[in-house]
Amino acid sequence: MTDVRDDAALQDELVRKLRSDAGIDALRDNDPEAVMLQLRTLMQQIRRMFLVYEFGIKALSTKIEILRQEFEQGHDYSPIEHVRSRLKTPEGVMRKALRRGSALTVEAIRNEITDIAGIRITCSFVSDVYWIAEMLSKQSDVTVLETKDYIAAPKANGYRSLHLIVQVPVFLSQETEHVTVELQIRTIAMDFWASMEHKLSYKYDTNLPAHLAEQISTTSAIAAELDDRMGKLREEIRPRPNEVD
Ligand code: GTP
Ligand code: MG
Repeated sequence: MTDVRDDAALQDELVRKLRSDAGIDALRDNDPEAVMLQLRTLMQQIRRMFLVYEFGIKALSTKIEILRQEFEQGHDYSPIEHVRSRLKTPEGVMRKALRRGSALTVEAIRNEITDIAGIRITCSFVSDVYWIAEMLSKQSDVTVLETKDYIAAPKANGYRSLHLIVQVPVFLSQETEHVTVELQIRTIAMDFWASMEHKLSYKYDTNLPAHLAEQISTTSAIAAELDDRMGKLREEIRPRPNEVD
């Protein structure tokens, strides 16, 4: 794992923020060592926090895997096509904390940055997206903090996906930690669209040419139409996941 202290510019920005939060006047540079110690301690705590987030991803991934295997045993298809998980880097987390003006404490960072851990589930059909969301949400140790349904209400650019911010318990030797994970559940068509859009908007940064923005929006409508037609075809040939066959 890399260290924020390898990135001088980021480190400077963190030190400035720590000093200003503590009310230390930058012109009266009276105790730089104390601030560096504070930064070192914070980074140690962040590294420990990352381990707990990794456990959170494992706990939630197991729940998803259990649903998948149980379903596959009784049916000849799977509502889950792919599952991918990722952790932000410590640098990424610290940059986001600075961007959002969060206090530089582990507690504030954990409360305010809800996408430190992320899991993306890709399904074949829209109905599977909602089925998985429901199966996970109703588990007694899963707490849904927030739901954003960009399928029912796509973003202006055409982005579609179901996002859930959930919390799962992780049982450690001395305490129980409640870990927040961002779950993105989408169809293959939504995922295909999102990865294309991501590459284009990354390439053009904020200056996406109007004709490209329009084409992106059109392809989103085509992907939605494909999801719709595939869903109808599926209803012709298969029972819904919650029906026993
Ligand atoms: P961030 O602070 O950027 O994480 O966004 P947010 O807090 O407004 O949350 P939101 O649920 O809108 O987005 C969270 C994540 O969804 C992003 O980090 C992306 O992975 C994904 N996402 C959201 N909007 C888009 C989009 O327009 N295009 C693509 N490709 N992905 C998106
Ligand atoms: Mg994000």
